[in-house]
Amino acid sequence: MSDRAKILLVDDEPGMLRYIRTLLEVDNHTVQTASTGEEALELMQNGLEPNLVLLDLLMPGIDGLETLERLRKLQPNVRVVMLSCVNDTKKVVQAIRLGATDYITKPFQKAELDTVIDQCLGTNQQNYAGEVEDLGDETFFVAACANMRKLRSQAALVAHVDIPVLMLGESGTGKEVMARLIHKLSPRAHRTFLKVNCAAVPADLLESELFGYEAGAFTGATHAKPGKFEICNKGTILLDEIGEMPPSLQAKLLHVLQDQQFSRLGSRSVLKADVRILAATNINIPEALAAKRLREDLYYRLNAFTLQIPPLRERREEIPILLKHFMAQLSEQYARPPLPFSQEMLRACATYNWPGNLRELGNFVKRYLVLGDEKLAINELQPRTDGSGAPFDPAPSRNGSEPTGGLKSLARSAKDEAEAEAIAKALDETNWNRKQAAALLQISYKALLYKIRQYGIAQQNKNAHKLSAGA
Ligand SMILES: Nc1ncnc2c1ncn2[C@@H]1O[C@H](COP(=O)(O)OP(=O)(O)OP(=O)(O)O)[C@@H](O)[C@H]1O
Ligand SMILES: [Mg+2]
Repeated sequence: MSDRAKILLVDDEPGMLRYIRTLLEVDNHTVQTASTGEEALELMQNGLEPNLVLLDLLMPGIDGLETLERLRKLQPNVRVVMLSCVNDTKKVVQAIRLGATDYITKPFQKAELDTVIDQCLGTNQQNYAGEVEDLGDETFFVAACANMRKLRSQAALVAHVDIPVLMLGESGTGKEVMARLIHKLSPRAHRTFLKVNCAAVPADLLESELFGYEAGAFTGATHAKPGKFEICNKGTILLDEIGEMPPSLQAKLLHVLQDQQFSRLGSRSVLKADVRILAATNINIPEALAAKRLREDLYYRLNAFTLQIPPLRERREEIPILLKHFMAQLSEQYARPPLPFSQEMLRACATYNWPGNLRELGNFVKRYLVLGDEKLAINELQPRTDGSGAPFDPAPSRNGSEPTGGLKSLARSAKDEAEAEAIAKALDETNWNRKQAAALLQISYKALLYKIRQYGIAQQNKNAHKLSAGA
């Protein structure tokens, strides 16, 4: 149980006020009550500084959401827990966006209230033990700065509300990791989590991949096959690189989201889709909407809640912790003793721009661990002679080609540099229209996506727009 706290309780129902007040006073909390939002605001304007506000969502006069917004303007750090009803999902989501710390659904038992208060005020504040969380399957989630902790707590709250969540952020910032975190913290945690990479599967196969098919549905369909939506029943699907999904399929997906129903290709029977949909993309959304590459109606369905994951250069304070984390994880994986990070190395890492974000940092640690050459590692991070910084990471890709060929093959080769530069230029010229860039470079679209990833080429200052409220 947390220590005695000063709690402001706001609810328009006198019975509810009495009930909750009693529950709180049993634990020696000091309780101040208000029966309208206006009254609560007045109390705080007059100097009341509660450790916690318990705030009803539905009230006559200014409602819970508006009260929340105004309370947080008055005292930006005040912790607010919303008291909601079962059907208030939309409002709960809005409250999370507006910065509510948590919510609790009425009617509730004392134990539930105690847990929420403990998490808000007690030692359990971050709701998880440390900075590194093990998500299973060798995936870890590190949140070691205020911004990431805030995203983590939003993810934890939204995990319990069965709505789509859209993850935005540059390549390598951790969109997939965030999706896995949401799944793990959701009631679906013990069911399947599947990722479908909409860019990696050819357009005509993607539909059958997602929805499955009956025998004879198309040439070559010799036997029936269930799609990911069926396999993932009661679980979570991550639609990765959603911006690359063909618009016709986007329309079909929208129907599935609306009706929670779908059919296998070539079948008339309707199947129920009980699947939580998460989506991720690193495209520039306003541009994709304008160019009609991303359907607006689908976008508004998917972004019921948006998590904008910041690039690593905007959360540099995490770099030392991430270096240590990757070193510990990789040294275990490769059964090699972990290597130390010298002050010089830490300084170089702290100032480097990490255009490939956490993926690039992970690959950097991997190379350092395998080669054991600190000088070479530091050298990699130095600005190049053309003064542009090191805008790409010619690291072995995440697809697993492990560094085995010794120094020569691992060092940045002239060919890699030239290729990455040509790609960056083509992307620049086409305003990051990857289909056009591929045509310009005379390589396939898929090859281009692969190379962008391999070299960690990032879109500079392009997708810096913030769509997520509060994130
Ligand atoms: N918060 C985090 N904590 C620990 N590791 C992370 C975190 N975020 C990302 N990583 C690591 O960085 C790498 C890239 O993460 P992830 O695949 O989630 O990025 P992404 O945003 O989906 O990139 P892309 O747009 O290229 O698909 C992975 O190896 C992942 O384990
Ligand atoms: Mg990804």
